[in-house]
Amino acid sequence: MREYLELKRDRDDDEDKWVEHYSSKHQILLLGEGDFSFSCSLATCFGSAFNIYASSLDSYDAVVRKYKKARSNLETLKRLGAFLLHGVDATKLQRHPDLHFRRFDRVIFNFPHTGFHTRESDPCQIRKHKELVFGFFHGACHMLKDHGEIHVTQKTKAPFCHWKLEELASRCFLVLIQCVAFDKRNFPGYENKRGDGFRCDQPFLLGECSTFKFKFSLAAKELYAEKMKRREVKERESKCHQAFSTRAMNNKHARVEYSSMHHELPRYTKRTKPHRAFLISTLKSHQKHVAFSVKTVEYKLVKHRSPNGLYASVEFLTEFIKGKYEKC
Ligand SMILES: C[S@@+](CC[C@H](N)C(=O)[O-])C[C@H]1O[C@@H](n2cnc3c(N)ncnc32)[C@H](O)[C@@H]1O
Repeated sequence: MREYLELKRDRDDDEDKWVEHYSSKHQILLLGEGDFSFSCSLATCFGSAFNIYASSLDSYDAVVRKYKKARSNLETLKRLGAFLLHGVDATKLQRHPDLHFRRFDRVIFNFPHTGFHTRESDPCQIRKHKELVFGFFHGACHMLKDHGEIHVTQKTKAPFCHWKLEELASRCFLVLIQCVAFDKRNFPGYENKRGDGFRCDQPFLLGECSTFKFKFSLAAKELYAEKMKRREVKERESKCHQAFSTRAMNNKHARVEYSSMHHELPRYTKRTKPHRAFLISTLKSHQKHVAFSVKTVEYKLVKHRSPNGLYASVEFLTEFIKGKYEKC
């Protein structure tokens, strides 16, 4: 315990040390660790790990069984003061009792992957990976401090680029701020692991890969809220329109509701305005109570212009409308 407190005091007095995008002063959460070599690399370079929360989906027993260096990496991390968590599902962060209330400067998931079930190019496999990453973004975006960042390191060639990280992130109001080529040599001791199957402890070919950095954007959230509001209004209007048409269709003698009709009508154009005005005033003056589709009547009005320049007579309209609805 004394050793722990001394280490922590020394660490607090220290200058901050940087390893690529990560500082010893950052609060860092790591998800989906394999053999914990990435966390261990950061901790060793920082000289302490009081700022590191390192986690795996696997239980402790599974981790030490799957990866031959896991036990020693975990011991190092523990000695340097890291918080170690096992059985952490990256898609359920908000429900985790030790994590949901914490806020971090960096939340990192290196090479998220759901396991080797079928070919990587299989749409079903891609969907599963996307669900994992989306679930991670969804939870992690609530765990950021102001100016905090979410980092996902990922291969950038097909089929991995089909995961569309940026799009998944944007659905959680996260915007891409930078995409930096990933070079594992910058993290001494890090060994990327397959993480699944009988070769779980083996590395996978890295090829071209990058660290995608995302930030939460309040503006994106506000834009989304506005978009949703507009969509809601549009849906309400369309429901209103449908209800009006159905009511009119179902009732042969439905009275024309002038005010709501105006509200429901498509925008006036120069061409249709006199028709509509004529129709309404004529029907009003003759006190005809008819149900009709305004668009159809307008069409007929245009077609049946009388030679003297007036529009179709109200008698014609009434007959037309009656005929139409008696057929219904
Ligand atoms: C390809 S391995 C990468 C392991 C490690 N991050 C690395 O860079 O070596 C994919 C990792 O994602 C983890 N994983 C898969 N689904 C997960 C989930 N729902 N929550 C957390 N981790 C998950 C696996 O346990 C596995 O360790």
